[in-house]
Amino acid sequence: MARKRRGGPKRADAKQRVKTARGRSNSSTRWLQRQLNDPYVQEAKRVGYRSRAAFKLIDIDDKYRLIRRNMRVVDLGAAPGGWCQVAAERIGPEGRIVAVDLLEFDGLRGVDALVGDFHEAETQEAVRARLGGHVDLVLSDMGASATGHAATDHLRSAALAEAAFEFATEVLADDGAMVVKLLQGAEEGAYVARLRERFAKVDRMKPPASRDRSAEMYIVARGFRDAADV
Ligand SMILES: C[S@@+](CC[C@H](N)C(=O)[O-])C[C@H]1O[C@@H](n2cnc3c(N)ncnc32)[C@H](O)[C@@H]1O
Repeated sequence: MARKRRGGPKRADAKQRVKTARGRSNSSTRWLQRQLNDPYVQEAKRVGYRSRAAFKLIDIDDKYRLIRRNMRVVDLGAAPGGWCQVAAERIGPEGRIVAVDLLEFDGLRGVDALVGDFHEAETQEAVRARLGGHVDLVLSDMGASATGHAATDHLRSAALAEAAFEFATEVLADDGAMVVKLLQGAEEGAYVARLRERFAKVDRMKPPASRDRSAEMYIVARGFRDAADV
């Protein structure tokens, strides 16, 4: 089957305005207005992706060609399932995805989904048990809700990225890859340096689908090496 290039939307349609409703705060009115005017939200709806985040994985994978047929993939912070949809399309019916999130989300064909906090050992153990062996690709789009305090949000994001990396070192097959979200900040350099000790290539990418005003970026690490080979 040909690789689908669904790409991002081309242009925004005429702006929609949202009236401030009684009981709706200014920030939720602004959020709603942003959603209604966001071409990625509109495109996700049109093509049936569960989240605009799906386009970020498309951007990343179209650049780095990480996802291949029949791969075994783990998706951390998977709800509502946009990345799972993209990964499932690209690995095909013989591939396998184990996904985990704090939140429950609707099932998807070919995706084995678990609910749990990835910071907890028992959640990681449950994911490992479902994997039953090595994987080719670890995806982590985990993100805690924003506090609005940049340094705090960065540290929370770094803790999730660290948990994803530690887990990846246990489950990745030789030459495997990892994509992880990180909000930019003080820990970024040290984190990338740690990844460089275990992966042959480590790149940072801000996908076009990622909002300019967001501090998020993605780290793409390829060529995993087992500790014994480092
Ligand atoms: C940006 S969303 C992921 C979107 C998803 N990639 C998609 O395409 O639909 C981030 C997710 O990370 C999850 N998350 C945050 N902290 C987590 C944790 N400690 N364990 C598991 N999931 C977590 C959130 O519940 C949220 O659903």
